[in-house]
Amino acid sequence: MSKIIDGKAIADAILVDLKADVEKMKTRPCLAVIQVGNNTASEIYVRRKISACTRIGVDTISAHLDENTSEKSLMAIIDGFNQSDAFSGILLQLPLPKHIRVKHVLETISPHKDVDGFHPLNIGRLSVRSADPYLHPCTPFGIMKLIDMQYANVTDDLPLEGKRCVVIGQSHIVGRPVSIMLQNQGATVVMCDKNTRDLKQEVRHADLIVTATGVHGLIDEALIKAVDNPKVIIIDAGITKVDGKVVGDCDPAIYKHVGAYTPVPGGVGPMTIAYLMKNVVKSHKLLHG
Ligand code: GUN
Repeated sequence: MSKIIDGKAIADAILVDLKADVEKMKTRPCLAVIQVGNNTASEIYVRRKISACTRIGVDTISAHLDENTSEKSLMAIIDGFNQSDAFSGILLQLPLPKHIRVKHVLETISPHKDVDGFHPLNIGRLSVRSADPYLHPCTPFGIMKLIDMQYANVTDDLPLEGKRCVVIGQSHIVGRPVSIMLQNQGATVVMCDKNTRDLKQEVRHADLIVTATGVHGLIDEALIKAVDNPKVIIIDAGITKVDGKVVGDCDPAIYKHVGAYTPVPGGVGPMTIAYLMKNVVKSHKLLHG
């Protein structure tokens, strides 16, 4: 029987603990949320993030900027939030309008306030392992928690050591950082994407598959039947909409062929928000001790 990994329940428990943590703080954390333009998906994500803040007792300030806002004005707003101790975390919702250079702007967010964990210093620290990032990228961090919990009953000291993990999707938000985190735990990582020539061959010996391409059905029955390991774990972070319904990269027909899987919705999505809230609380501690 395949096991459903209930990300929603795990995320809910994390939020309960964070609320208790915030109640003990001398000052309430405040997250600055910046959105540029009117992207419908972004509006939904931002609403969810603000609602999670409210749930754990974190204040928010929202800067919803016009589509035509210049890069220079956006950077000035970010700088204002960087300089003020009233805000411990800054969240710049992506995507940004085309005239704004995303990488350039993300680098202007203070690494201590970078609650998304996207700043090159945070990603760089994750890669070199000589120092911990100030803040970890949320989705990969949440995915690692789900994986750790899955392997928690295994007796190995380092359950990921030597395991073959196939990451499908090479985004800066999920695929790349999760591959670094897996390598940091000793996993053997294979990086693929939606254009990989022979995906079946790549997944054949997988113990774990993390997929985040946004292509619904990329992970289908034929692909999963090629995997040797009936206990393979599949983590689906590839959220998209088909006929108005939120779906992942996996065709649900694959579920019966795997050891454990994250559903969409209710798997990785709630963990992203919970780990964002963890970062918001941590950023407040970084600023105020
Ligand atoms: N857009 C899609 N996913 C994300 C995310 O995790 N953080 C931000 N800031 N924007 C996003």
